Amino acid sequence: MIIVLNLKALLSTEGRTLVDESLPVFELERWQSLRENYARILLSESGVEPLTIAEINELIGEPLFEDDFRISYGWTKGSPELRKTISEMYRADINEENILVTNGSSEANLLTVLSTIKKGDLVIAEMPNYMQIYNLLKWKGAKIIEAWRKPEENFRLNLNRLINNIRRLKPKAIFITNPNNPTGMFLSNNEVNEIYDEASKVKSIIIFDEVYRGLEHEGRVDSLIEIGDMKNVIVTSGLSKAYGLPGLRIGWIIAEENLIMKMWSIKDYTSIAPSRLSDSLATRCLRGNVRNKLLERGRGIVRRNKEILGKIANDYKDVMKVYYPLAGAYFIGKFTWSNNSNQICERLFKEYGILICPGETFKLKGFARIGMGQSPEKYENSLKAMFNGLKEIKKEETNCLI
Ligand SMILES: Cc1ncc(COP(=O)(O)O)c(C=O)c1O
Repeated sequence: MIIVLNLKALLSTEGRTLVDESLPVFELERWQSLRENYARILLSESGVEPLTIAEINELIGEPLFEDDFRISYGWTKGSPELRKTISEMYRADINEENILVTNGSSEANLLTVLSTIKKGDLVIAEMPNYMQIYNLLKWKGAKIIEAWRKPEENFRLNLNRLINNIRRLKPKAIFITNPNNPTGMFLSNNEVNEIYDEASKVKSIIIFDEVYRGLEHEGRVDSLIEIGDMKNVIVTSGLSKAYGLPGLRIGWIIAEENLIMKMWSIKDYTSIAPSRLSDSLATRCLRGNVRNKLLERGRGIVRRNKEILGKIANDYKDVMKVYYPLAGAYFIGKFTWSNNSNQICERLFKEYGILICPGETFKLKGFARIGMGQSPEKYENSLKAMFNGLKEIKKEETNCLI
């Protein structure tokens, strides 16, 4: 299988152009952008299979747009209807003034970092993670203390270590993705409560990216905003993962009103407004019944795919150790014969047309993140193709060593 792609861009610079030396390359996004539209089998995604217009039409059950719908700027903060709908999704004392609608949760994270962190601030960041916030923190000149979910601890967050660091270091802010990307682990309500209590004592802000909330395979995690007082917490989220609507580019921030106003004034510079078309569709997708159906769909996909993975993975344990996730539409695997996950993933893509994400993009060398959100009808074949490709690569790489 030979893939036709812009080899020049790929081989010379990986398309990297740094804004300035202090802003690290966003390795994961760049890895995907350069390859995802050429892959034969796409297992690099972390959300559930996106819906089609026909599927959204069926769920909403009314014309998506009337002929006189005007494609204006709309509401730069997000329409009052959408902000109200979002605020009503949480069992917390919040209203539309506590919500800012953004272009994806990535813009939500950007505005959050820009409005809360300045040079020299000491912060704690959970690792491994998606690396957007981490790299932005570096760019801002924050001093980052990493709170690692380690493979040898089955990627559970060591709460004692974290709490001790909060007490000792009194960080300005603590950044956590709950549920976590890429490990698929999440913090229970009790654990969040404990972190919140300690952080409040030393006046740290707790910032949770909750874009994977709703994709817990069993049970539910509460939102941080439902646990902590709004004075000390900020939550970001969006429609790209659990809801299967990444192309709408709708995300949001929940925070105290004065902080929302500050973020809104930065947003005047970044994107001005969310797309009016997306705002309108998102409002209808997040209302009661439609929202429940979307979340049920997402959870159904990952539950079925996790079963498929469980059935198959044992036959391939000579190539990959699988770390089973508790949430999200992805799992972590460790290659058994080599630590060079970048090279293995590049070979899998170039020789077999199968795209997964190398652990290096998460600072997890030797591992890979593999999607679990594809339509279950296709997933078994996709997984088998991936494992068989890895078997061949292992055979060649280990033969070369003899
Ligand atoms: C933890 C996390 N936050 C934010 C994003 C950005 O998502 P979007 O901007 O599509 O909402 C991603 C995407 O993979 C992610 O994994």
